[in-house]
Amino acid sequence: MGTKQQWDSAVDIYNEGMGEEGDKLNNNLIHPTIRKILGNISNKTILDSGCGSGYFSAEIAKNAKSVIGTDFSGKFIELCQRKYKYIQNLKFQMLDVTEQMPFNTETFDIVISKMVLQYVKDILVFAQEAHRVLKSQGHLIIAIDHPFNTQFYFAQKLTGSNNPKYQTLSHYFDSSAQTKLSLWDKVELTWYPKKIEDYLSPFILNGFCLNSIKEIEEEKQNTLIPRILILDFLK
Ligand SMILES: C[S@@+](CC[C@H](N)C(=O)[O-])C[C@H]1O[C@@H](n2cnc3c(N)ncnc32)[C@H](O)[C@@H]1O
Repeated sequence: MGTKQQWDSAVDIYNEGMGEEGDKLNNNLIHPTIRKILGNISNKTILDSGCGSGYFSAEIAKNAKSVIGTDFSGKFIELCQRKYKYIQNLKFQMLDVTEQMPFNTETFDIVISKMVLQYVKDILVFAQEAHRVLKSQGHLIIAIDHPFNTQFYFAQKLTGSNNPKYQTLSHYFDSSAQTKLSLWDKVELTWYPKKIEDYLSPFILNGFCLNSIKEIEEEKQNTLIPRILILDFLK
């Protein structure tokens, strides 16, 4: 099954699991940092790229000037359009992040990509397009699984205290596709491991400056592990 079909098949599970507020991982680890970077968004035009079930797009639309949520899954977009048709300043449309965006140059104040790019093999077009559609001084905010997460579990495995629930990658430099039971152990999803360099270089090469970086830890088995990486780029 291709990644698009995998995500199409996960729409109901994702929508139910996230609800209208997000799961624990999002609420405890991801949203507080993103909200802090966003600051006051009352006059901001925002693109939520890879919006999934749309709950976060809808939440930020409450305070933003306008929000567009995009996703390559037509099923997610149909769901979002149905759920949030009453919100005037929020629109959704189908879009693959590996393709050119149908938006004019310098349209958005902020582009958000929350927990998407680990599932995308090549993020170069996204880096180019995000830069093009952002206004000068615009922010690109990216949240992804921390690339070191799998290395922690691999190290644990080596010491004999393996937790079979977690994916281990024996080689930090191995970028081959991996498939793992995800979304609360309900759906097989393919992800493309990337090094920190792979997440930074395409954006810096395309003219972004790294404004801030946040490594968010999670406590597992009495140990703090690197769980989420948040990158805030400035055009
Ligand atoms: C983990 S979900 C995150 C959804 C949302 N950003 C959130 O935080 O709830 C990943 C999303 O990325 C989307 N996605 C994966 N690959 C994509 C691609 N190439 N283009 C656009 N969307 C993609 C999936 O359909 C899914 O909605």
